[in-house]
Amino acid sequence: MLHRQSQLFLPTLREDPAEADAASHRLLVRAGLIRQVVAGLWSYLPAGWRIHERIVQIVREEMDGIGGQEMFMPVLAPAELWEKTGRIRIPELFRLSDRNERPFVISMTHEETVTFHARELRSYRDLPKILYHFQTKGRDEPRPRSGLIRVREFVMKDAYSFDRDEEGLDRSFQAHAAAYTRMFERCGLEFTAVQAESGMMGGTESIDYLAPSGAGENTLVTCERGDYAADLEIARGVPRAPTFPDTLGAPVEVETPDITTCEALAGFLGIDLAATSKAMPVVADGAVVLALVRGDDRLDEAKLAAALRADVRPAQADEIREAFGAEPGSLGPVGFRGTVVLDEALRDGQYVAGANRTGFHLRGVEHGRDFDAQIADIRVPQEGDTCPHCGGALTFRTAIEVGHIFKLGTTYTVPFDATYLDEQSVERPVVMGCYGIGPGRILAAVVEQRHDDRGIVWPASVAPYDVHVLALSGGSAEVEEVASAVAEELSAAGHDVLVDDRDARPGEKFADADLLGVPVRVTVGKKSLDDGAVDVRRRTDDADARVDRASVIDWIATD
Ligand SMILES: Nc1ncnc2c1ncn2[C@@H]1O[C@H](COP(=O)(O)OP(=O)(O)OP(=O)(O)O)[C@@H](O)[C@H]1O
Ligand SMILES: [Mg+2]
Ligand SMILES: [Zn+2]
Repeated sequence: MLHRQSQLFLPTLREDPAEADAASHRLLVRAGLIRQVVAGLWSYLPAGWRIHERIVQIVREEMDGIGGQEMFMPVLAPAELWEKTGRIRIPELFRLSDRNERPFVISMTHEETVTFHARELRSYRDLPKILYHFQTKGRDEPRPRSGLIRVREFVMKDAYSFDRDEEGLDRSFQAHAAAYTRMFERCGLEFTAVQAESGMMGGTESIDYLAPSGAGENTLVTCERGDYAADLEIARGVPRAPTFPDTLGAPVEVETPDITTCEALAGFLGIDLAATSKAMPVVADGAVVLALVRGDDRLDEAKLAAALRADVRPAQADEIREAFGAEPGSLGPVGFRGTVVLDEALRDGQYVAGANRTGFHLRGVEHGRDFDAQIADIRVPQEGDTCPHCGGALTFRTAIEVGHIFKLGTTYTVPFDATYLDEQSVERPVVMGCYGIGPGRILAAVVEQRHDDRGIVWPASVAPYDVHVLALSGGSAEVEEVASAVAEELSAAGHDVLVDDRDARPGEKFADADLLGVPVRVTVGKKSLDDGAVDVRRRTDDADARVDRASVIDWIATD
């Protein structure tokens, strides 16, 4: 196809948009690919939508490749479907009602609707199935940001697998994991697949696909030796060993006036911060629980909640006084009657802990000898930690979650009564998986990873056009004719060609071409034409090459 830039709605900008924090936000707006309507709501302009749809097509091909069947479910759903699963209470859910006051929701994902349909899978002969669609999701995100990375309305490809048992689910899950790897590879993304938290979906196993980028909201933790990768939310790191002071036969009380932080305590006692412990009193299931992490660590509340299988909140001043008989800053596990959750790092060795007496600490406190505790990993990993598998150094990088796949099990099929009859006519719940991916977020992540100070550098697989022909005519009819002819030839050879036939200066055309980032650029100007040639370069090259007009197609074909 041949597209004439003079006709195209491609409003490029010289200046960065205000408040654009992420590179993708800046460049996608400047290149004329997207425009904001209001915070979190974006329109794709024609060239931007071409990119989106190329990503969609890659995703579709890989889904069809594992036997997925494309369908289409409505955006709106009756609220009662979401009441059945209890997800009606999710704060991100947009709610509305029709003219008769019947409540609806704007689906933020489609488990409810698809499971409603899955009730028609009645026999083991109907299984397995993979159903998917591309559909708009609405999410009332608290903080829409970074252009397309976190928006309130976006197209998602969501797929759902239906199997007769866990074994079948495992096969469906593995098939999706492999398909996702191919999707991201084909889109030219650098990414890592990691075990992740299941969050609001419920269910057992999940894999997150993280694309490293400064604009991300996730943190990817990887081992330098490549044997460990995890999202920081569930990552485990091994902290350095502390330098302990001399071992004591029993805890010794020391007066620590006005000292309420571990840093001040370590300084006052002249010991390693890592040899102190930090007391974090919380309330879980109505009882005060003491969480203990090392003085140089931070408590991970989500890990603590998982260890306790309960929601937790920080304890209030009066609750603390009642449970410990002391003020925050002097709290510790010795003599405390409630549950102590001890971070793994504190399992062995002697630490300084609060004495449960305001203004005093205990030196030489030892787990097992001086107090009992439930031991769990409840710390946030940090720089300097080593790998839980091999002891190698861990690296921390911000990253964008571009895809997420979950094993749901029967979380949705049980409330919806989606059951099938097995060979013995025994009724069993269908076992489900769900697999989400956001083409818009992928698009933004590609830009995050592939740009330079002049603009975007699209990989050929998702570029809006294959070749950008720049006609530097300056009023020359001959240049215009040759540029048109070259563009026609390229188009006839199967390339998607954008020809810059605008009445604009060369500098402007070059700048816009760099900004838009089409992989190959062919420049037709007076100078080169004099020797029957045109100038060609890839977006990744620093300089033009001059080639004979007739050999442009061959030049493009060679890498
Ligand atoms: N607000 C959003 N804007 C753009 N894309 C999104 C958004 N939320 C989710 N996606 C895309 O949909 C995919 C699947 O959605 P899922 O519900 O698993 O995301 P999520 O866990 O809510 O993501 P996040 O943790 O970033 O909010 C994500 O991997 C991402 O590609
Ligand atoms: Mg979310
Ligand atoms: Zn390792």
